[in-house]
Amino acid sequence: MATSDKTAQRYDRGMYPLERAGISKLRRWLTAEAHGNTLEIGVGTGANIGLYQPGTTVTAIDVEPERLETVARKARQNGRERATILACANAQDLPFPNDAFDTVIGSLVFCSIEQPDRALAEIKRVLKPDGRLLLLEHVRGQTSFTRRMTDWLHPVWFALQGSCHLNRETASTVAASGFHLDQTTTHGRGLLQMIIASPTPE
Ligand SMILES: C[S@@+](CC[C@H](N)C(=O)[O-])C[C@H]1O[C@@H](n2cnc3c(N)ncnc32)[C@H](O)[C@@H]1O
Repeated sequence: MATSDKTAQRYDRGMYPLERAGISKLRRWLTAEAHGNTLEIGVGTGANIGLYQPGTTVTAIDVEPERLETVARKARQNGRERATILACANAQDLPFPNDAFDTVIGSLVFCSIEQPDRALAEIKRVLKPDGRLLLLEHVRGQTSFTRRMTDWLHPVWFALQGSCHLNRETASTVAASGFHLDQTTTHGRGLLQMIIASPTPE
């Protein structure tokens, strides 16, 4: 088995208890909101790829090229290979024209994007004016206990893990980057947020 497959399997195995605990249900809700020409950023091992509605075309990107092999396999297994385009690309510098997508979606990705405001400016550029941004993110705790917990754990977690921020306030960053927050809901004891946002007119 290729190393990329082993890494993907490790990620999927690590996520399994969290998926069972509710993340997979949140993924289904979020992907049901995607329509038309859709861009998924930070697709990882392709956990969402089999969940899109028929008729949705998905361009899925990740900065790690080896992740895309696993996504291609999952797309084939789910009969979605014709509706899935894969590209190695950085959300901070998207290789797509303006107003290209009806939906941009991401799950558990804004925790690890180096410059979230830059990625959001790019997302706004490639989204149609009536398009929507759909996010499922782990965020800075939304209760006083979980806020203290994520702030306290963040430096240790970041030092061990290398790229994942435990205490980002992603909804505020989205709102400050030229989007209107249509809906935000909190889950997982205040540690997860679903965010649905629309670009505000220039
Ligand atoms: C924690 S994984 C989440 C994967 C998947 N979206 C999920 O829900 O399981 C984060 C993914 O985002 C990718 N990523 C991080 N920064 C990125 C960027 N600037 N542009 C594109 N992908 C990025 C990583 O390579 C990784 O595959």
